[in-house]
Amino acid sequence: MAATVSEILLDWYDRHARDLPWRAPPGTPAPEPYRVWLSEVMLQQTTVAAVKRYFRAFTERWPTVEALAAAPEEDVMAAWAGLGYYSRARNLVKCARAVADMGAFPSSEKQLRELPGLGDYTAAAIAAIAFDKRAVVVDANVERVVARLFAIGEPLPGARKAIRAKADTITPEARAGDFAQAMMDLGSSICTARDPKCLLCPLADECEGRKTGDPARLPVKAPK
Ligand code: ADE
Repeated sequence: MAATVSEILLDWYDRHARDLPWRAPPGTPAPEPYRVWLSEVMLQQTTVAAVKRYFRAFTERWPTVEALAAAPEEDVMAAWAGLGYYSRARNLVKCARAVADMGAFPSSEKQLRELPGLGDYTAAAIAAIAFDKRAVVVDANVERVVARLFAIGEPLPGARKAIRAKADTITPEARAGDFAQAMMDLGSSICTARDPKCLLCPLADECEGRKTGDPARLPVKAPK
């Protein structure tokens, strides 16, 4: 039987996953929810390159969610300086305290969504990456990959519904967290916004956007 998109992509991820401090290598047990949560909050609106250093500093100083929950807010704000969007740091402390009160991170997308500072994307990412739940994880990188893979020509933001529905169809039951991170890696290294490197892409044969001859056009931005 022909390999599916998720099989091809997971096989690629097993060989090419970026080694990032909040990740567990493919095939090893999931990383701790605390580390997944902290990295995903830091990665909202901040690049991977910038986050690495902050992630290491935070996890050395506050190795657990309980430790972070016990920290004075001003210490956390000071450690956050440079990452920007300071409401994220305030919510970080609130969320750590809520989780410490609960005893542990909840594992369902729905309960995660109720924690301070967690939107749909972050809740789905934590459920998939830390708890190995099947969740449809769509960030800007995934959005671009999916819009190209299925040649979705409708402009953003209207296209988001169709993109999500297509992302759902290719998300596997098992290894949804690896699958999500594989999509992110593909989007940041190969299926880049301006210059998709289709010759290196493991999904080139499956990609409808490539067949159109101009995948870089996708996803179409809303007219200003
Ligand atoms: N951007 C947001 N979350 C990420 C992750 N887990 N890996 C790589 N890039 C990301």
